[in-house]
Amino acid sequence: MIVVIGGTGTTGRAVLHALGARGVPTRALVRTPGRLPAHIDQIVGDAADPDSLRAALTGATGVFLAMGNGPRQEEIELGVVAAAAHVHHLVKLSAPQVDNSPVAIARMHHRVETAIRTAGIRHTFLRPYAFFQNLLFHADRIRATGWFPTTTGDTPLNMVDARDVADVAVAALTHDTTGTHLLTGPEAISYPDVAARLTAAGRPARCVTVTPTELREDLRGAPPWLVDHVLEIQHMATTHPEHPNDTVAHLLGRPPRPLNAFLHEYAAAFGIPTR
Ligand SMILES: NC(=O)c1ccc[n+]([C@@H]2O[C@H](COP(=O)([O-])OP(=O)(O)OC[C@H]3O[C@@H](n4cnc5c(N)ncnc54)[C@H](OP(=O)(O)O)[C@@H]3O)[C@@H](O)[C@H]2O)c1
Repeated sequence: MIVVIGGTGTTGRAVLHALGARGVPTRALVRTPGRLPAHIDQIVGDAADPDSLRAALTGATGVFLAMGNGPRQEEIELGVVAAAAHVHHLVKLSAPQVDNSPVAIARMHHRVETAIRTAGIRHTFLRPYAFFQNLLFHADRIRATGWFPTTTGDTPLNMVDARDVADVAVAALTHDTTGTHLLTGPEAISYPDVAARLTAAGRPARCVTVTPTELREDLRGAPPWLVDHVLEIQHMATTHPEHPNDTVAHLLGRPPRPLNAFLHEYAAAFGIPTR
């Protein structure tokens, strides 16, 4: 039995789907009933609550942990680690690590990875770069106005499709192979490149390079930790050059999904004409 924590999220949902397609017994810990298809075994509870974790993890052999970012993430993940001491294999969604990372959430992931190692739990750590799916954050504005702001200029970024991250998680859990994997898409792409691809696909778009202060202002209304995170991630991208690797292809036996396919799949969201 594989238990997915974060199963209503971008990666966890794809993991549940892929495990279900393979006939692997799964269970999801969900905070809100009705957000996942009824055929998925679900425990309604909160990962911050030890009783919920106990109920969800009873009988679990494997766990996929994809906890949403937030001020309590570290405390919640450490609770999961404590409750999962008995499982055979824990696959944790983490983030790329560099020494003295400027990204607070990456430092938090590193501390949780250390706790998992210290607890002696057999583990796989997935360290993906930014998901293609993050681009959907800009989709409404691109569809309406054709532009979006970033601070990274022409810096190439190792964007990756979250479904490839999910497929690597599923491979680790079903083949019972462990490791620490830095995951990238097939190419490093700058935000102006993304705009050029949208334009080529039929939705004229441009990326406007702004200062960190201007981006902070643009994100006004978002939670402060999220604004800080976006700025830290973009700062890290400009100070730590990103290069694609072949880890996804090596682990899955097929290349990672390309950005163009993602943009076409979400054509309606970005305002790309479909005919
Ligand atoms: N996005 C990226 O580019 C990127 C890149 C590298 C690493 N990551 C890491 O990926 C992780 C997020 O993965 P994701 O984007 O797949 O997830 P996501 O779409 O942000 O969804 C978060 C999931 O966590 C669940 N959750 C949050 N608090 C919970 C709680 N107290 N109890 C139970 N469930 C809870 C949410 O449930 P509800 O539906 O109830 O809210 C949801 O299922 C983060 O740790 C992030 O640092 C992201």
